[in-house]
Amino acid sequence: MKQATSALVILLVMGIALPAFGRPETRYDATTKTCRTLDHGPLEWESRAWGQGGKVFRSLCQGCHFRDNDQGAPFLWAESKTAKAWNRVFSQKYPPCAQDGSWDSMTLDEQLMVNDYLFRWGKNSRDVNDNA
Ligand code: HEC
Repeated sequence: MKQATSALVILLVMGIALPAFGRPETRYDATTKTCRTLDHGPLEWESRAWGQGGKVFRSLCQGCHFRDNDQGAPFLWAESKTAKAWNRVFSQKYPPCAQDGSWDSMTLDEQLMVNDYLFRWGKNSRDVNDNA
C-alpha cells in the first residue's frame, strides 16, 4: 500500500513537473529571418493554446483540419508534427492549402503566432534544443 502510494506520488510529480522542462525557448523564423523569444514577454502568452497563436490555429486551421471532416484534410493538432516539421510547414508553405489561398485570411503576424504555438507545443518539443 505504502509502495503504491509512493509510486503514485512519483508519477504525479513527473506528470506535473516534467512537461514544464525543456520547452523550446526561442524559435528562428525563416520567413522573417528573426529569432523569436517564446519563454517570456508577450510572445509567451501569444504562443499558448489560449493566446492568439492557439486561437488562430483553432479557428482557421482546425476549421478544416478537424477530426473526421469530409474535406479530405487530415486531422491536425499541435502534436501531429515535431517543432522542426511545423517550422517547415510555414517556411516552405508546402501544404496544398497554403498554396490554394486557404491561408490568405491570416496576416503575417498571425502566421508567426500560429507557428510559435505549434513549434512550442509540437511533438517531442521537450527534446528540441536546437531551433535550426
Ligand atoms: C479550407 C480548408 C483548409 C484550411 C483553412 C487549412 N487547411 Fe491544411 N489542408 C487542407 C486539405 C484539404 C489538405 C489535404 C490536401 C491534400 O492532401 O491534397 C491540407 C493539408 C495540410 C497539410 C499537409 C498534411 C500533413 O499532414 O502534412 C498541412 C501540414 C496543413 N494542411 C496545415 C494547415 C495549417 C497549419 C493551416 C492553418 C494555417 C491549414 N492547414 C489550413 C485544408 C485546409
